[in-house]
Amino acid sequence: MKILLATQKPFAAAAVKGITDILEGAGHQVVKLEKYEAQADLVKAAADAEALIIRSDKVTAEVIAAAPKLKIVVRAGAGYDNVDLEAATKAGVVVMNTPGQNSNAVAELAIAMMIFMARTQFTPATGSEVQGKTLGVQAFGNVGRLVGAKAKALGMKVKALDPFLTDEQIIAGGAEPVHTLDELYEGSDYLSLHIPALPSTIGSINYDLITKMPKGATLVNTARKEVIDEAGLEKALEDRPDLKYVTDVAPDNLAVLQEKFGLRVFATPKKMGAQTAEANVNAGLAAARQIVDYFATGNTKFQVNK
Ligand code: 3PG
Repeated sequence: MKILLATQKPFAAAAVKGITDILEGAGHQVVKLEKYEAQADLVKAAADAEALIIRSDKVTAEVIAAAPKLKIVVRAGAGYDNVDLEAATKAGVVVMNTPGQNSNAVAELAIAMMIFMARTQFTPATGSEVQGKTLGVQAFGNVGRLVGAKAKALGMKVKALDPFLTDEQIIAGGAEPVHTLDELYEGSDYLSLHIPALPSTIGSINYDLITKMPKGATLVNTARKEVIDEAGLEKALEDRPDLKYVTDVAPDNLAVLQEKFGLRVFATPKKMGAQTAEANVNAGLAAARQIVDYFATGNTKFQVNK
């Protein structure tokens, strides 16, 4: 089978080699499209692909329509909001992710971002310590649980909200369960977002929620930019000069936020949460193995469009 590895943000060389070895070792052919500039490049490259490995690359209805031989797309990572699931399902294309494989990298970045903001972006201005502060984790999945564990090791109190988990599961994960967003936001000096971008979550982190946070609080977003109501965030930062926002997914109004709020806002230049050699290897090789297994045995364990 012809497998296209399409990564606008390329994997580390070790991951690319590992992916290639696994796929070629199983008799497949690997074609690479890395650092491409235009979506049209992906549409063109996918034309004769039977499988795709992607990261945040956009597998739109156009890509799927242009790839009549396509049978499977594996998003090497957790969030699959970049894949048009409806178009894939209609075309009979299986879509999978590789849950958990890059979680530690994202969790480490969330912790790093908290400390970076606590220390006023590493300027000499007097900062604060995270020890003794409360971290609220919104969505206690693979990443959220790791952030919680690392925060506890730093001496933080950890609370978590997750409508898909029982109190017992949250407690077993090392956090105190809370049951409403208001309660979570009101009690969190740091609030780390780990929700996916879904119709129900897009724009859900709004002015009302953000301004519920206590004095001096910081909102940490290593999830998706779409979950933030950007106008609401701007107004919250305006009305509450004590609040801070740090994100791995730059908002559309970043320039305005930086101009207005200076060191209270920080965004990474490009999403880098999962950009470690380890995460690249874990997620990339898992994706390759899932493709080999799917073609060999029909295994759809990680399919997200069942
Ligand atoms: C994910 O959903 O797995 C992360 O957001 C990582 O995305 P990336 O592979 O584009 O870095």
